[in-house]
Parts: sequence; C-alpha cells; structure tokens
Amino acid sequence: MSELRIGVLTCSDSRSAGEAEDTSGKGLVTLAQDRGWFVAAYHVVPDDQETIATAIVEMADVDEVDVILTTGGTGLGPRDVCPEATLSLCDREVPGIAEAIRAESMRITKRAMLSRGVAAMRGTTLIVNFPGSEKAARESFGIVADQLEHAAKMIAGGGHA
Ligand code: MTE
Repeated sequence: MSELRIGVLTCSDSRSAGEAEDTSGKGLVTLAQDRGWFVAAYHVVPDDQETIATAIVEMADVDEVDVILTTGGTGLGPRDVCPEATLSLCDREVPGIAEAIRAESMRITKRAMLSRGVAAMRGTTLIVNFPGSEKAARESFGIVADQLEHAAKMIAGGGHA
C-alpha cells in the first residue's frame, strides 16, 4: 500500500453556512484515513464556481495532494456547479472513473443518472466528483477507492506493475 495525499472538498451552501453538518466530507476523510492515506486538506465551500475552483487549485498546487475527492454540487440544480468548476482548471478528463461511478451506482439507485460528476487531472493531481449525500459519497468512494493508488502512480509517471 502506498500512502496517498488526499484532499476532501465539500461543496454545499448549507454546510458551508453551518446550517447542516458535513457528514459526507467527514465520512470521506475517515474512509481515506482508514486506508492509511494522509488527508492533507479538508474544506467546506459554498456552491460557487469560483470558490470551488480556487479551493481545488490550492489543494492541487499548494497542498500538492495526489487525489481530491469532492462531494456535492453534481446534480441538476442551478447551484450545482462542481463539475464545471473542476473542468475549468483541469488538463485532461478521466471519463472512465465517472462512468464507473454512475454505472455501479445505478445498481443501487436509478437516481445515480442525475449526477453529472466528472473526474479529471490537473497536473499530477486527480480530482474526482462525488454526489453530495453521505450515502452517495460513501458508495462512490467504495466504487473507485481500489483504483486510486494505481491511478496516482500512473499520473506520476510510473508504469504498470
Ligand atoms: N449515487 C449513489 N451511489 N447513491 C445515491 O444515493 N444519489 C443521486 C445521485 N447519485 C445517489 C447517487 C441523487 S438523488 C442525485 S440528485 C445526484 O447524485 C446528484 O447529487 P448532488 O447534487 O448531491 O451532487
């Protein structure tokens, strides 16, 4: 097992305003730590594209995390802008990750088709969008977690084992 540096970013107006507890982001922090990964950054921001983008850039470029897990803001509401924020600052998409999350999640709930989450790379950082509920975030983490160490190794220029 390699120790990944992880950033967790919750995108939620209500949670950033303190009106609701951020069980999704905190849950992701715990899930990452349970795998032996180091959570270098954890922030809660409102559903504002510029604010989300700034937080992602800081985690990628300053905190130098390998993987950023975002939760929230992937749906169809007018304030759901996490995918747009993510793509605005990334170089390359990794569509298979988002495809896998939607496909596997569809076995659990057909509403998974309503998540517009993306996965993409900014330099050597991989950003993966999860939906916002704690349940959806945990399920999505379970779908991709086993692949993240290999993904980070490949992004860093490592070959296949
Ligand atoms: N994916 C999983 N695995 N489990 C879920 O419960 N909920 C869906 C979907 N993806 C869900 C899921 C629902 S109800 C919505 S509206 C979308 O994610 C978008 O959620 P978001 O706007 O909180 O990001």
